[in-house]
Amino acid sequence: MARRKKVYEGKAKILYEGPEPGTLVQYFKDDATAGNGAKKDVIDGKGVLNNRLSEFFMTGLGAIGVPTHFIRRLNMREQLIRQVEIIPLEVIVRNFAAGSMAKRLGLEEGTALPRPIVEFCYKDDALGDPLVPEEYVIAFGWASQQDMDDMVALALRVNDFMAGVMHGVGIKLVDFKIEIGRIWENDYPRLVVADEISPDSCRLWDIESGQKLDKDVFRRDLGSLADAYTEVARRLGVLPSNV
Ligand code: C5P
Repeated sequence: MARRKKVYEGKAKILYEGPEPGTLVQYFKDDATAGNGAKKDVIDGKGVLNNRLSEFFMTGLGAIGVPTHFIRRLNMREQLIRQVEIIPLEVIVRNFAAGSMAKRLGLEEGTALPRPIVEFCYKDDALGDPLVPEEYVIAFGWASQQDMDDMVALALRVNDFMAGVMHGVGIKLVDFKIEIGRIWENDYPRLVVADEISPDSCRLWDIESGQKLDKDVFRRDLGSLADAYTEVARRLGVLPSNV
């Protein structure tokens, strides 16, 4: 049978037309990139692990009433999702200083923040996804004031859920990125969590040892990325049998 039509190919995923209107098939590749594509590799089994982990997080969010694009997992590497109108922002939630925030503010990585902080980056590979203030988002029409308020609320609910789940398996949720999309229902937009939630887009540190279990292992050459993701999946009880 001919492959479904490709709609979009990103660095770590491919989107294909779905079986019904308003649906897409999201395929998880094994490709890993960092530094906006400057560093590249293929990590055997990463796509399988991220497909499972994203299914796990999206299903859990759905169960507590947080809307997501996820419909169901189709196979080892693919999941059926609802087609959304992606808001061109990366929505980042931080609980502890790390990465670009630690650098920008001269904070030691791991410093606890006074409260979870939500920030927005404009999704543009050529520009390196720059941090943007709310003023830009609204002035350039990427999202409305209402969307901004709803996105902050949504992101904080995702943070509460994710931080709790990870804490339960001995992992500290340092920060993460989500993407949010609109689904139109009777002329009203509804915001849903889209894209993926996986160790590619989170910082996850073992609470006891501080060991990194996320994409920083690849970004900073700290060992085996597949082993780190496998450990996260194992602790959450979603380890695929034949990665
Ligand atoms: O690099 P930075 O500290 O801004 O990243 C914050 C969080 O957002 C990290 O968990 C990182 O993995 C995630 N992120 C992402 N995709 C990007 C930029 C950041 O998933 N393009």
